[in-house]
Amino acid sequence: MTVEARPLVLGNWKMNLTAREAVAYLRDLLPRVSGYADREVAVAPPFTALPAVAPLLKESPVGLAAQDLFWESEGAYTGEISPLMLQDLGVTYVLVGHSERRRHLGETDRMVNQKVLAALRSGLRPVVCVGEQEAARASGRARSVVRSQLLRALSEVPRGEASSLAIAYEPVWAIGTGRAATPADVSEMHACIRSELQRVYGEAGGAVRILYGGSVSGGNIDAFMESPGVEGVLVGGASIRLDDFARIVGFRRPA
Ligand code: PGA
Repeated sequence: MTVEARPLVLGNWKMNLTAREAVAYLRDLLPRVSGYADREVAVAPPFTALPAVAPLLKESPVGLAAQDLFWESEGAYTGEISPLMLQDLGVTYVLVGHSERRRHLGETDRMVNQKVLAALRSGLRPVVCVGEQEAARASGRARSVVRSQLLRALSEVPRGEASSLAIAYEPVWAIGTGRAATPADVSEMHACIRSELQRVYGEAGGAVRILYGGSVSGGNIDAFMESPGVEGVLVGGASIRLDDFARIVGFRRPA
């Protein structure tokens, strides 16, 4: 089994855009990012904009993603959003374990794992975010940190579900800082993630897309997409800048 052939460009809008703004933005964006057969595009608006954008995206090749989910399907969990609610809106992908949630909301590897399992049970495709802090990179522990996050996040995920997963490698120090990792460092970490996936899932571990995220822009996208082992990108800040995101989706790779 090989990696899903098409690279994935996923825009994480974070806590930006009201429902009305989201619709207006998508009306401008969709014509500019819909003409590609060889790449997949999806956007992750805030929860409050999902119902408004879902009908627009349904008519387009651009997929719908959510930024988070809870691990129970219903019940007394004030403020949470269940996998079933997302599925009901036509959501395909869901981010899990973004470093901003780990940092500001105290999300742990155990919670990330519960969310991954819940997403898979509901037929959602989790995009599992992993990445080291700056101190870990400086002290040469980046790989062991990422490996440990990965294995804990995927605990008890059966081999048969591996092909529904994507991993986003997002070094924390590169997120929102304008200081992207080097393509060489990204390729090295992606190779490490790939070998863990194959060790755990065998051949099926080869089918998981591994994305890079952290200050991806129109200016550096081609260099990332040319790098070995980069099968897509998770884009934050630039995903709500029309020209930048259109340029990222239109990345060029040497023939
Ligand atoms: P950034 O964010 O592109 O603004 O660095 C990436 C992310 O948080 O997913």
